[in-house]
Amino acid sequence: YTPKIAVIGSINMDLVTTAPRFPAVGETLLGSGFAQFMGGKGANQAVAAARLGAEVALVGAVGDDAFGRELLAGLQEQGVDTAAVKTLANTPTGMANITVAEADNHIIVVSGANFGLTVADIEAQEALIAAADVVLSQLEIPLPCVEAAAALAQKHGKPFILNPAPAQRLPESLLAASSLLTPNAHELAISLGLPEHTAAHDLFAAANHRVVMTCGADGALYYDPQAGLCQQPGFAVQAVDSTGAGDTFNAALAVYWPLGLPQAVRHACAAAALSVTRMGAQGGMPSAAALAAFLASQP
Ligand code: RIB
Ligand code: NA
Repeated sequence: YTPKIAVIGSINMDLVTTAPRFPAVGETLLGSGFAQFMGGKGANQAVAAARLGAEVALVGAVGDDAFGRELLAGLQEQGVDTAAVKTLANTPTGMANITVAEADNHIIVVSGANFGLTVADIEAQEALIAAADVVLSQLEIPLPCVEAAAALAQKHGKPFILNPAPAQRLPESLLAASSLLTPNAHELAISLGLPEHTAAHDLFAAANHRVVMTCGADGALYYDPQAGLCQQPGFAVQAVDSTGAGDTFNAALAVYWPLGLPQAVRHACAAAALSVTRMGAQGGMPSAAALAAFLASQP
């Protein structure tokens, strides 16, 4: 069985500065390094799923510039089908300005071509969504595009996993059309329009329990109809860069979806843990074999 995954989402070039700590407002700090990595939540999910052995198609947009060409070539090299990635004239490719300090990050995304994606572009890919086993999306493209993807997934009876990041309040209809949301606690509260620090139990109830909540190094919370809220503990690793951990998590969840939620979440936590051991959003994303070996080595 080779899972077919359709990813509807963003493609960015990540410009990453490493520093000993984050600067304070108004402060000038000497950094320790700079590098350029492929990124964007959509592209990251697509690459992570492809590394895990899935057949992956990405729907997105880049600009007609050097970053766009480099990103397209990189995606193809990773085995991602980019036939549904359009190249837009007169719009820069999306970029992310990232600071990494103490394995944590600050990210500012300048969307560029990602926001040139239209509902018509998504609707033109109905066949691709209909052929997928799982459809994945995030919020770095216009919301109507995400809604169109969710509606098509629903129409064809395909699971639609929505990573609601960066966080924004979600329309009821999108919540209803999503099979699963994969936010962290902060994103879940904002998605639902509830106060920050609402208890996890109440957040899950407000989202009809169709949630897997990521908890960073502490793993993830998911809902089991029999057992209620369950915690999958995180896997201990030497963290270098947490950028892209959430994207790897979502990809693994989609790839291992047929195993059922507890096993899919376990695989997702392990894949995310491995991803943070290397610099760059796509550095450290495991192959299926590496993930299996890592899981087998765990107590
Ligand atoms: O989730 C990580 C990603 O967020 C980065 O690759 C960056 O491009 C932003 O989209
Ligand atoms: Na990484």
